[in-house]
Amino acid sequence: MQPPVRPFRSVLYIPGSKERALEKAKTLPTDAIIFDLEDAVAPQEKAHARALLAGVLAQGGYGARVKLVRVNGLDTEWGRDDVAALAGLEIDGLLLPKVDTPADLDALAESAPGVALWAMMETARGVLNAAEIAAHPQLAGFVLGTNDLAKELGCRAGPGRAPLITSLQLCLLAARAAGIVCIDGVYNAFRDEDGLRAECEQGRDMGFDGKTLIHPAQLAVANEVFAPSPEEIDLARRQIAAWEEAQAAGQAIAVVDGRIVENLHIVTARAVLAKAEAIAQMEK
Ligand code: COA
Ligand code: MG
Repeated sequence: MQPPVRPFRSVLYIPGSKERALEKAKTLPTDAIIFDLEDAVAPQEKAHARALLAGVLAQGGYGARVKLVRVNGLDTEWGRDDVAALAGLEIDGLLLPKVDTPADLDALAESAPGVALWAMMETARGVLNAAEIAAHPQLAGFVLGTNDLAKELGCRAGPGRAPLITSLQLCLLAARAAGIVCIDGVYNAFRDEDGLRAECEQGRDMGFDGKTLIHPAQLAVANEVFAPSPEEIDLARRQIAAWEEAQAAGQAIAVVDGRIVENLHIVTARAVLAKAEAIAQMEK
């Protein structure tokens, strides 16, 4: 599996109807943006948001931030108009809500040939079909929709998210098997920094590339937690140096800080450095 070349530590939702927030995002330290036309936009605002967003995207100004647009489902009265309004605009991908099967992606792929597709994983059917969905040739990533998923499961996912772990893991396994990006769900209490930090750390430790966010106040924590720490970067450099030395001496294994370092650790160490480099580019 190739590590993602662009960082996805922070992935900020912005309602497509909120002009001020759309403007503000041009200066926010977010790795990626999800411009939302779906649930963050009320039905009576859908047409306005679609036109506003198309105009904003045509103007640009979002720099190196990855730009994804969450369209309404194609089975709604708005979905097809959303996709049509975005045609030809410079975006990095279309995010489809409530993907149940790969056929849902086929339908979008037909209307948006050549555009990278992303799937919201937020239904019981979708999670059970995660491997087939992840293998879709046009799919670039999963975004976990943990609020919808908890609603469908009828579960109470408090701190630790125990009732959701199986679903999160199934999505991660499928994403890694297919070599696509996998972004964790949102933390609703956007003023609760300690709670957010704990959930970011859990997501990072599970293997997510980053976290979806709903408010700028959440950016700093996600950016910090999902970035390699200075200690991890230092260790990666020392592992690579020690291993190269061992190789030169005809050995397959080095020892760093009392632990063995094999080829597989070097793959991880190089991925850590590549991610750190991608982040440094982003923050220039
Ligand atoms: N993206 C970019 N900017 C945002 C933002 C976001 N998601 N949320 C808030 N801001 C901006 C506001 O425009 C405001 O900017 P200003 O200082 O230039 O006026 C500033 O951040 C402070 O906002 P604040 O007053 O604290 O928030 P709020 O009460 O206006 O809004 C929410 C709170 C939760 C309604 C709002 O953050 C939001 O709509 N989040 C996204 C929700 C969403 O997309 N959900 C769908 C996926 S779950
Ligand atoms: Mg949803």
